[in-house]
Amino acid sequence: MASDNQPETVSIPSVPYDTPTSARAYGWMLGGKDNYEVDRNFLLATLPSFPECVDIARQNREFLFRAVRHLTREAGIRQFIDMGCGLPTDDNVHQVAQRFAPDARVVYVDIDPVVLAHGRALLADDFSTTVITGDMRDQDAILEHPDVVRLIDFDEPVAVLFLSVGHHLVDADGPRRILRTVVDRAAPGSLLGFSQVVADDPERGAAMTAHISGGGVPWQTRTPAEVDALLDGLVPVEPGLVNLVDWRPDADQPPLAPVHPDLVPYVGATDSNKGIYEYGGVLRKP
Ligand SMILES: C[S@@+](CC[C@H](N)C(=O)[O-])C[C@H]1O[C@@H](n2cnc3c(N)ncnc32)[C@H](O)[C@@H]1O
Repeated sequence: MASDNQPETVSIPSVPYDTPTSARAYGWMLGGKDNYEVDRNFLLATLPSFPECVDIARQNREFLFRAVRHLTREAGIRQFIDMGCGLPTDDNVHQVAQRFAPDARVVYVDIDPVVLAHGRALLADDFSTTVITGDMRDQDAILEHPDVVRLIDFDEPVAVLFLSVGHHLVDADGPRRILRTVVDRAAPGSLLGFSQVVADDPERGAAMTAHISGGGVPWQTRTPAEVDALLDGLVPVEPGLVNLVDWRPDADQPPLAPVHPDLVPYVGATDSNKGIYEYGGVLRKP
């Protein structure tokens, strides 16, 4: 991967109650209850302009199941780092991985301290899985974290997940450098799971970026070609980098929790609006 600018120093914030957060708003779209009025109001103000959001959040989460199943069952991965893991919901990464490989180990990383609080409760009795508060823009700090050192053996292949978080890495953060730092550290044969919101039309993508980042959530909608460029140097496994609904679809995978009634009017928006979607896949480090 080519190099880009070093980011400015980043610091981890305390829990924001007066601005929406990605973890809580996304969790609401998945059927979660750990959110505040500020998150719900922001989403309800976003959906009239970008009604695709509910579908694509849920399509991403369905992809997560298929990707982790592939990584454990077909690729033989036994250790995962989940960057920007989100609030716990059904079929979290360790639950999917351990269903297919009971010895799988998982480190969850998220910038939102609410995720740590809920994750700790979920993982109280699980010694092969942990959750840490960290900023994925500071990969050096994450890779040196004692829990990462304890659970992850970088001499063995590892799966590093950046699922539905690419849009939170704006160009000024140096996303190629961020990805390259962890990929360089990983053993050959390691795999990267990546997805983010894209727009085929750059103008519509810019409007989405302006709306969401204007609400206080760091955000950059990219085009598919811009995502391909970020991931240059890695080898996508079949079917490549695609709209996630086309990544090894499985009509029999476990369903997500039901959609909240306030969001039901937006379900199915991607049936007609096909220009904004979650794009990504699984890529191998050669
Ligand atoms: C849309 S959710 C995706 C959750 C999960 N990866 C999934 O695919 O279901 C994005 C998550 O990334 C987290 N996030 C955003 N910026 C981050 C950063 N700089 N470092 C770590 N986590 C971050 C948010 O707090 C949120 O939980």
